[in-house]
Amino acid sequence: MKDKYKVGIIGATGMVGQRFITLLFDHPWYDIEVLAASPRSAGKPYREAVGKKWCMDIDIPESVADMTVMSAQDDVEEIAKKVDFVFCAVDMKKDEIKALEERYAKAECPVVSNNSAHRHTPDVPMIIPEINPEHLEIIPAQRKRLGTERGFIAVKSNCSLQSYLPAMAVINEKYPIDHALVTTYQAISGAGKTFETWPEMVDNLIPYIGGEENKSEVEPNKILGKIEGGEIVPSTALQIECQTYRVPVSNGHTAAIFFSFKDGVKKPSVEEIQDMWRAYKGEPQKLELPHAPKQFIYVYTEEETPDQPQIRTAREIDGGMAISCGRLRESTQYDYKMVSMSHNTLRGAAGGAVLLAELLTAKGYMD
Ligand SMILES: NC(=O)c1ccc[n+]([C@@H]2O[C@H](COP(=O)([O-])OP(=O)(O)OC[C@H]3O[C@@H](n4cnc5c(N)ncnc54)[C@H](OP(=O)(O)O)[C@@H]3O)[C@@H](O)[C@H]2O)c1
Repeated sequence: MKDKYKVGIIGATGMVGQRFITLLFDHPWYDIEVLAASPRSAGKPYREAVGKKWCMDIDIPESVADMTVMSAQDDVEEIAKKVDFVFCAVDMKKDEIKALEERYAKAECPVVSNNSAHRHTPDVPMIIPEINPEHLEIIPAQRKRLGTERGFIAVKSNCSLQSYLPAMAVINEKYPIDHALVTTYQAISGAGKTFETWPEMVDNLIPYIGGEENKSEVEPNKILGKIEGGEIVPSTALQIECQTYRVPVSNGHTAAIFFSFKDGVKKPSVEEIQDMWRAYKGEPQKLELPHAPKQFIYVYTEEETPDQPQIRTAREIDGGMAISCGRLRESTQYDYKMVSMSHNTLRGAAGGAVLLAELLTAKGYMD
């Protein structure tokens, strides 16, 4: 590992891009070298380009405020030469994002992406670092397809499923789950919005988020899949059905989950499941990565805290990188029901991508 890596943020003026800046400006391993966005922002100092869109709870860090924003699409080669890798979070059409990310990878610049465009490309790993770090082993096959030595694309999953899949995946390792019914309650920052920019969301709830239900039902299969013959073959073992709601919450996605085990699986007790959550350590905890939460899954019990996890109590735990679970109890229709939540722009977006980059760096993929 090098002492420091130079990084670029593609989509730096957006909601997720701003989060990247707040997580990276004082990062122990990374220096922000490039900020890039659309031609509307290119050529302007960052402070001017982001203007009133800046919505983080700290001021724009001085170290980036006067950086000249580059053009994400026109300056690919130049950016690739300046940095060791880029984070990407842009609002463009899916096929345009796919092509853009491949251009960076082919310019020998690894891409850690927040976008959904490549989530189902079979040789692109979609990683929750605590759950499926072994999928990084697909990268040599992807490099072979792209004809690169260093360049590759790695993605994180959709923000909503990070609030519940980790809790299910930990149980599933020992006690295979057959099917689950999931309802998600998603914050407005997941749509890149605040209450100022989306006043219609105050005192409201919208029972529809375009495309989200499909992501929640399909993406877990790839995360739980296996590498076979140069691609990640999705698992078919777990069936999830999902209903999503947009709710009047600034940050933090919550999920209500009802699940049943496979036939013949001896049902664990509530206490055993809670102990598995408490004891679970993934690669980020073992490697002590800078953004790894010390405790991956926080447990709230019915006896002591039946009204948790609440957004305001739980979303900032361990820098917004922990998952919080509560309300685990027997169900009359399924084996169990429970509630879990995580911070959607930290664990679910920029923080999850930074943790993924740290994992890739610790494993030598950024050298
Ligand atoms: N918000 C979340 O919680 C969340 C969670 C997970 C994943 N994501 C994904 O992350 C991505 C970004 O989301 P966001 O909420 O940050 O969006 P956003 O706030 O709308 O920001 C979009 C960014 O993309 C840039 N952009 C737009 N058109 C472009 C173009 N033609 N060429 C180059 N750059 C362009 C914008 O630059 P200008 O300012 O110059 O227009 C801005 O930097 C999306 O793919 C989204 O689905 C978001």
